[in-house]
Amino acid sequence: MAIIIDGKALAAKWKENIKGQVAALKQHPGLAVILVGNDPASRVYVTSKEKDCSECGIYSEEFAVPAQFGQKALLNLIAELNQRPEIDGILCQLPLPKGYDYDEQEVLLAIDPKKDVDAFHPYNVGRIMIGDYTYLPCTPAGVMAMLDEYGIDPAGKRCVVVGRSNIVGKPQAMLLLHRHGTVTICHSRTPNLGEITREADILVSAVGRRNLITADMVKEGAAVIDVAMNRDENGKLCGDVDFEAVSQKAGWITPVPGGCGPMTRVMLLQNTLAAAVSHGKA
Ligand code: GUN
Repeated sequence: MAIIIDGKALAAKWKENIKGQVAALKQHPGLAVILVGNDPASRVYVTSKEKDCSECGIYSEEFAVPAQFGQKALLNLIAELNQRPEIDGILCQLPLPKGYDYDEQEVLLAIDPKKDVDAFHPYNVGRIMIGDYTYLPCTPAGVMAMLDEYGIDPAGKRCVVVGRSNIVGKPQAMLLLHRHGTVTICHSRTPNLGEITREADILVSAVGRRNLITADMVKEGAAVIDVAMNRDENGKLCGDVDFEAVSQKAGWITPVPGGCGPMTRVMLLQNTLAAAVSHGKA
């Protein structure tokens, strides 16, 4: 039976630590959260990010604008936030509404890289690539913190990342590589996925397809990290991994919910704290 990686408990520990560091600053950090349109899932994410901030003493300001706000107005808002000294971090919740003139890449490029607490700006992505970074994207950073906490060292291990998104898969692979893992990236068009995942000592799945990872695809004793957030036929949260069966075979496993989700949230706080420090608020 696998050890269950308790992301919720680890996130609570990190949060206490961040709260202490925030309290010691000369000025509190500030986060601007932009929400365009009324996607219910994005609304939930944004509300929880703001709640996390207030619990840690981080000032947050919400900019909820209608879907028809438009690309130009959004770029103007970001330009204004780039200039405001009390705002250390800017987060524009993705995805932007479909059917309008939004260009996500242009929006990410408009955010001052020094305030890019999501680490989505190409400048910060490039810095991650070369292993010299101020901000790490929140989900992969949370995964690395969980591996560290449980003494799972990627060095010399076979690491398989399933998923190639800019937000999770690609940066996750880079972080494992920086820690000397031997990394393979798989995706929806990888044939015979199980053949590759069965080699993994550390398996990270970030696809968004329920029961994608079954027990026969997992090596005995592997660390299985489930980044996905799906719903089953009863509307219950679940990940990509068949948790019941895989937990009988893996060495470590993250639950959904209570694994990667809370750690992702805490890493945004960590990045906002780092932003405030880099802006001279320490
Ligand atoms: N949408 C889903 N995850 C994220 C995230 O981490 N940051 C932003 N900005 N949007 C998201």
